[in-house]
Amino acid sequence: MKLSTTTTTILLLLLLYTTTTTTLSPPSTTLDPKQLRALQSLYIPTTHDPCTQPPHNATTCDSATPFRHLLSLRLTNCSDDLSLSTTALSSLSTLTSLTFLDCHTPIVHFPTSLTTNLRSFTSINSLQHLTGVFLSRFSNLTDLTISGDTIKSSGIRIITSNMKSLTTLTLSNTNLTSFIPKHWNPKLTHMDFSNNKLNGTIPTSLTLLETLKFLNLSSNQLTGEIPTSFGDLISLQNLSLSSNSLSGSIPGSISTIPRLTHLDLSSNQFNGTIPRSISEIKSLKYLNLAHNSFHGVMPFNASFITKLDVFKISGNDNLCYNHSTISKTVSKKLKLGIAACDKHGLPILPPPAAEEPESSVDDMSSGDYDDDDDGGNVKKKNGDHDNGPNKVVLGVAIGLSAVVFLIIFLVILSKCGGRCCCCC
Ligand SMILES: *[C@@H]1O[C@H](CO)[C@@H](O)[C@H](O)[C@H]1NC(C)=O
Ligand SMILES: *[C@@H]1O[C@H](CO)[C@@H](O)[C@H](O)[C@H]1NC(C)=O
Ligand SMILES: *[C@@H]1O[C@H](CO)[C@@H](O)[C@H](O)[C@H]1NC(C)=O
Ligand SMILES: *[C@@H]1O[C@H](CO)[C@@H](O)[C@H](O)[C@H]1NC(C)=O
Ligand SMILES: *[C@@H]1O[C@H](CO)[C@@H](O)[C@H](O)[C@H]1NC(C)=O
Ligand SMILES: *[C@@H]1O[C@H](CO)[C@@H](O)[C@H](O)[C@H]1NC(C)=O
Ligand SMILES: *[C@@H]1O[C@H](CO)[C@@H](O)[C@H](O)[C@H]1NC(C)=O
Ligand SMILES: *[C@@H]1O[C@H](CO)[C@@H](O)[C@H](O)[C@H]1NC(C)=O
Ligand SMILES: *[C@@H]1O[C@H](CO)[C@@H](O)[C@H](O)[C@H]1NC(C)=O
Ligand SMILES: *[C@@H]1O[C@H](CO)[C@@H](O)[C@H](O)[C@H]1NC(C)=O
Repeated sequence: MKLSTTTTTILLLLLLYTTTTTTLSPPSTTLDPKQLRALQSLYIPTTHDPCTQPPHNATTCDSATPFRHLLSLRLTNCSDDLSLSTTALSSLSTLTSLTFLDCHTPIVHFPTSLTTNLRSFTSINSLQHLTGVFLSRFSNLTDLTISGDTIKSSGIRIITSNMKSLTTLTLSNTNLTSFIPKHWNPKLTHMDFSNNKLNGTIPTSLTLLETLKFLNLSSNQLTGEIPTSFGDLISLQNLSLSSNSLSGSIPGSISTIPRLTHLDLSSNQFNGTIPRSISEIKSLKYLNLAHNSFHGVMPFNASFITKLDVFKISGNDNLCYNHSTISKTVSKKLKLGIAACDKHGLPILPPPAAEEPESSVDDMSSGDYDDDDDGGNVKKKNGDHDNGPNKVVLGVAIGLSAVVFLIIFLVILSKCGGRCCCCC
C-alpha cells in the first residue's frame, strides 16, 4: 500500500511538472512586433502570450510563421484615456473581427486596408461621432452591430448599400431616422432596427428575404400595414413590430410561417379580428397582441394559451373572450385582461367594483378587465388558493428528499467505512 502511494505521488509530480513546463514555454511563433506595439497602445496587456488574452478571449491569432497575426480583437471597458490612432489601426489590418464594448472613445480615420478586410464590426455603447459615411466604408462585412451609439446619418441606405455580403445587421438604439431600404442581400438572416426613429412603411420587398430568421423593428415610428405576403418569410423565428404606429389587420399568411416562435405585435393600432389560424403555428412560444384595436371574439382556447410561455392580449377594448369556452376562473388564471363576450360577441362592460358577487358567469371581476400591471392584483387574490397547496407540497417534498438523502448517505458511509480509512 505504501509503495503504491509513493508511486502515485511521483507520477502526479511528474504530470504537474510537464504541464507547467508546457504552459510556461513560449509559443512556437510570436506575434508580429508591429501588432504587439499596436496592442500596447490600446492598453492590452502583452506580457503573456498576446494571442490568448485571459479571461475574456480579447484576441485570436492565426498560426503563421515567423510571426503570428491577429484575426480578432475585442476591446472592453476601455480606460478613459484610450485614444485610437490611425497608425495603430493600420498595423491591425489582418483583423477580420473588431469589437468595441463599453469602450467610449471618438472615432478616427480607419485605414482602407482594415475596413475592407473586416468581416465583423461591433460597437456597443462605445464609439462616439459615428456617421453613416464612416460605416459605409466597411464594404466586406457580413456582420454589423451598432447599439447604443448615435449614428449621424441621413438613412440606413447610406450605411449598407455597399455591403453586398451582409447577413447580420443590428442598428439598435442609434437614433437613426428615415425609412427601411427596399434592397437587401437576399442571404440576410438577422435584422434589428429596434429603438430608432424610423418612419414610413415596412417595404413589401422585405418579404423576399427567404433566409431571414430574426426581425426586430420595435420602438420606431413605422406606419401602414403588414404586407400581405409576410408569410413568404419562411425562415422567420422571431418577429417584433411592437411600439410603432402600424395598422390594418394581421395577414393570415403569418400563420404559415413554419418555425415562428416569437410574435410581438403589441402597442400598435392593428384592428380587425385576430386570425384563429395563429393557433396552428406549432412552434409558437411567445405571443403578444396587447394594446391594439382588435375586436370580436378572441379565437384561442385555454389549451393553446397555456401551451405558450407568454401570452398577452390586454389593452384591446373591443375584444372579448367566449365564456362558454374559457371559464371565468380560467380567464383569471390566464390573466387575459379582456372582458367576456355577450351573446352578440361584444364585450360585457365590467360592473362597478362594489358589487362583485361570484354569482353569475357573466360577472366580470375588475381584474379581468385591467391591464397587465393590474393583473398582479388578481394574481395576489388567487395566490391564497393557488399557491397555498403548492407551498405545502413543496415543503413535504423537501422534507422527504432530505430524509431519503440522509438514509443513502448513512448506507454509503457504513459500507465503505473501511476503505475510506485506507484512503486517508
Ligand atoms: C475562450 O475561447 C475558448 C476556446 O475558443 C472557449 O472555449 C471559451 O468559452 C472562450 N471564453 C470566453 C469568455 O469567451
Ligand atoms: C466591465 O466593467 C463592469 C463594471 O465595472 C464589470 O461588471 C464587467 O465585468 C467588466 N467587463 C469586463 C469584460 O471586464
Ligand atoms: C472587399 O471589398 C472590396 C470592394 O470594396 C473588393 O475590391 C475586395 O475584393 C474585397 N476583399 C475581399 C477579401 O473580399
Ligand atoms: C437619442 O436622442 C435623444 C434626444 O434626441 C437623446 O436623449 C438620446 O441620448 C439619444 N440616444 C442615443 C443612443 O444617442
Ligand atoms: C426587440 O428589441 C427590443 C428593444 O431592443 C427588445 O426589448 C426586444 O426583446 C426585442 N425583441 C426580440 C424578438 O428580440
Ligand atoms: C420621416 O422622417 C423624416 C425625417 O425625420 C421626415 O423628413 C419625413 O417627412 C418623414 N416621413 C414620413 C412619411 O413621415
Ligand atoms: C382598420 O384600420 C384601417 C387603417 O387604419 C382602416 O382603413 C379600416 O377601416 C379599419 N378596419 C376596421 C374593421 O376597423
Ligand atoms: C426568440 O424568441 C424566443 C422565444 O420567445 C426566445 O427564447 C429567444 O431568446 C429569442 N431569440 C432571440 C435571438 O432573441
Ligand atoms: C384548442 O385549439 C387548438 C388549436 O386551434 C386545437 O388544436 C385544439 O383541438 C383546441 N382544443 C379544444 C379543447 O378545443
Ligand atoms: C361561444 O361558444 C359557444 C360554444 O362553442 C358557441 O355556441 C357560441 O356561439 C359562442 N359565442 C360567441 C359570442 O361566439
